[in-house]
Amino acid sequence: MALKLNAAAFQSQMQPFHNASSLRSHHRVFMASTLHHHQPSVEVRNVKKPFTPPREVHVQVTHSMPPEKREIFDSLNDWAEKNILVHLKPVEKCWQPSDFLPDPASEGFDEQVKELRERCKEIPDDYFVVLVGDMITEEALPTYQTMINTLDGVRDETGASLTSWAIWTRAWTAEENRHGDLLNKYLYLSGRVDMKQIETTVQYLIGSGMDPRTENNPYLGFIYTSFQERATFVSHGNTARLAKEHGDTKLAQICGTIAADEKRHETAYTKIVEKLLEVDPDGAILAIGDMMKKKISMPAHLMYDGWDENLFEHFSAVAQRIGVYTAKDYADILEFLVARWEVEKLTGLSSEGRKAQDYVCGLAPRIRKLEERAQARAKQWSPVPFSWIFDKEIKI
Ligand SMILES: [Fe+2]
Ligand SMILES: [Fe+2]
Repeated sequence: MALKLNAAAFQSQMQPFHNASSLRSHHRVFMASTLHHHQPSVEVRNVKKPFTPPREVHVQVTHSMPPEKREIFDSLNDWAEKNILVHLKPVEKCWQPSDFLPDPASEGFDEQVKELRERCKEIPDDYFVVLVGDMITEEALPTYQTMINTLDGVRDETGASLTSWAIWTRAWTAEENRHGDLLNKYLYLSGRVDMKQIETTVQYLIGSGMDPRTENNPYLGFIYTSFQERATFVSHGNTARLAKEHGDTKLAQICGTIAADEKRHETAYTKIVEKLLEVDPDGAILAIGDMMKKKISMPAHLMYDGWDENLFEHFSAVAQRIGVYTAKDYADILEFLVARWEVEKLTGLSSEGRKAQDYVCGLAPRIRKLEERAQARAKQWSPVPFSWIFDKEIKI
């Protein structure tokens, strides 16, 4: 009973996400009353469902940056033009998805598609689950552009604003847009995945949004994007490596090319945080500490396919098992950023700032230790069916 009350109280605070959770409830009813091969076999999940809001959604804090700090971002507009916009690639020098795909206007199209499908035959299903999850993450790009435009002082105020921040965000989005597009088309041609289930997942995900806990605060926002660009760099780099191991060099090239974009974006976002540490070391280190305490949630953490209530956890578990994105990667990224931003060397901090500095510097080893312990007592999951691959079961 207590659980019901708490959950109801919690849910009533979650107005913006009410639709998402009622949407889920609707589907729970649908699931319970439908005889379908997707029907979850684990009864425990059903018991707590009606009262469980999406776990990842927290109390929403807004506009946590003091208004006077907006001026910092106005004053950095010229700096951003010289230092951040240079990390964009001119459109005419950019690759496009069609560079990597069979040309539908060419005579050899059928043959090229056949070759593509032959290459994909050697790739195991668990790899496809992870590649699909990565593709879906990329396809929810409208959410990420929206998220960046929630940030005070840097948002695109008009949709065509000429501040460096707005120019960056639009061009960044335009570059990113090719990632989901290319992976989507490759996966479609592969014939190995259930496109309708994937498309349904993308629609649910964009409708659900994300909860990165960045509070309209560009300090928090750019720390989040620094982490995320590196996380996607690592993850696409690993799908490239595995594609090569499975003999699909074309897919390896695709994932590697996307990874290179992510790396370039990481460079830009980490430079912004580096600059904030220079002009406002206390504010920036407090923001890093805050973000790390809250943990960096993955952009697609609210994913749902209409069937699996724990889809994101299941996808993440497969990514962890095949080594595409692991808990160790999380600690490595944190360690990389702490070194990149020379957090240990920061001086002149307030006592709060020093506390945050100590916390951030000691965090990666602590995460590693916790992770080792968690691994040691990790429970064995039963195989999980993924709708994305026609309900085939995957060990996680
Ligand atoms: Fe991307
Ligand atoms: Fe990215």
